[in-house]
Amino acid sequence: MPNIVVVGSQWGDEGKGKVVDILAPHVDAVVRYQGGNNAGHTVVVGREKFVLHSIPSGILHPGLRCVIGCGVVVDPADLIEEMEALVRRGIVLDGNLYISRNAHLIMPYHRALDLAMEAKLGDRRIGTTGKGVGPAYMDKAARLGIRMADLLNEPLFREKLEFNLTRKNRSLSEVYDAKTFTVEEILGPYLRYAGWLAPYITDTALLLNRWIANGQSVLFEGAQGTMLDVDHGTYPFITSSSTTAGGASTGTGVPPTKIHGVLGVSKVYTTRVGGGPFPTELRGKMAEALRARGNEYGATTGRPRRCGWFDAVVGRYAVRVNGLDTIALTKLDVLDEFETVKIAVGYRYRGELLTEVPSEERIWNEAEPVYEEMSGWQCSTAGLRDYAELPAKARQYVERLAEVVGCDFCLVSTGAVRDDTILMDGSPLVRWFPSLRGSIPPR
Ligand code: IMP
Repeated sequence: MPNIVVVGSQWGDEGKGKVVDILAPHVDAVVRYQGGNNAGHTVVVGREKFVLHSIPSGILHPGLRCVIGCGVVVDPADLIEEMEALVRRGIVLDGNLYISRNAHLIMPYHRALDLAMEAKLGDRRIGTTGKGVGPAYMDKAARLGIRMADLLNEPLFREKLEFNLTRKNRSLSEVYDAKTFTVEEILGPYLRYAGWLAPYITDTALLLNRWIANGQSVLFEGAQGTMLDVDHGTYPFITSSSTTAGGASTGTGVPPTKIHGVLGVSKVYTTRVGGGPFPTELRGKMAEALRARGNEYGATTGRPRRCGWFDAVVGRYAVRVNGLDTIALTKLDVLDEFETVKIAVGYRYRGELLTEVPSEERIWNEAEPVYEEMSGWQCSTAGLRDYAELPAKARQYVERLAEVVGCDFCLVSTGAVRDDTILMDGSPLVRWFPSLRGSIPPR
């Protein structure tokens, strides 16, 4: 059974939650491999909307095993809140949710430092979600982090907390002029969280590898997107984890030799939240129209997302760095009313045509998109489930997207609900999961 990675091809918010939700009934387990509660994966089931932050989107499928891998950073208070909210809505977690004992904890001082560091950056601020994700990964790399397993060992947890807090408090008060913490105010709540989370904490790398050895299939659910990757993104305007497909291996303990394919998820236009380069960004009425039609507001922070045309330079890059086998295109219906639609096929920088993403921030900032313009279809594609039903101009648009990024698409999403989806016959996706055929009921 195939083990497939689902990865965002842009700056996050591509609709990975919906794609994972569609694939979940056809796999045995879903695992998150990086990021933390900075993510907001929206899934619409019937009339109900779920927004998941740390828990894999697969949890909405009864009996499906869901794993929070070692590459994820976990805010225990937020995670427990998310768990309680799911339980209140009838979702069963016991026996279905597993948390890596090696996953690092987000501590209150990480959140405080995230906000303080951003405030100091002024115009150069990243526009983080303020969840403490960056500082938690800083501690992980600095070998100062506190892990899930430590939470279960009270004396060790106290010792690590005391050691860290001395340094963090100094930094908070002396560098950032911010509020400090006492050991007791963190210890009490965190020990309560330990009691709550203990039944779910385990050696998830061992479990995942055992399941795979038994012929079960695992779906790797990426968070954020390629251009926010700590190595391959628009550094320093990135998140602090390996969002690209390679992260699936390090973030779970499943070796690359056991991963069979990579599926990219891409909107038919582009959005980004926070600061940093975005060559195809639109301003004014066009941006507002995209934002309104696409409901482009952050699922975690509620911030309005920056909106722009599809960027094929970014698309090609995502195909290369992730080794994409196929792409799921989302939100086609958002473009339904536009008279013209545009695709950036290159950038112009000081008279030169660039066809690859720039390596320098300065070039990113000055790069002007070179557009191909196509006429819009100006009729509704909302809810269509058959490729042949799409207006010819919409088909021409998606086929041109596939051509310019150099990768075929396997699915086109035409609405928020699960079934508003077109599955492409003969794509790698239906080869990987033959049971997907016929899984979308006709309208
Ligand atoms: P952080 O991950 O909170 O440190 O934020 C770093 C950058 O990543 C900021 O530009 C955020 O807006 C962006 N970011 C983090 N998580 C997401 C996400 O789930 N979707 C889109 N952007 C995100």
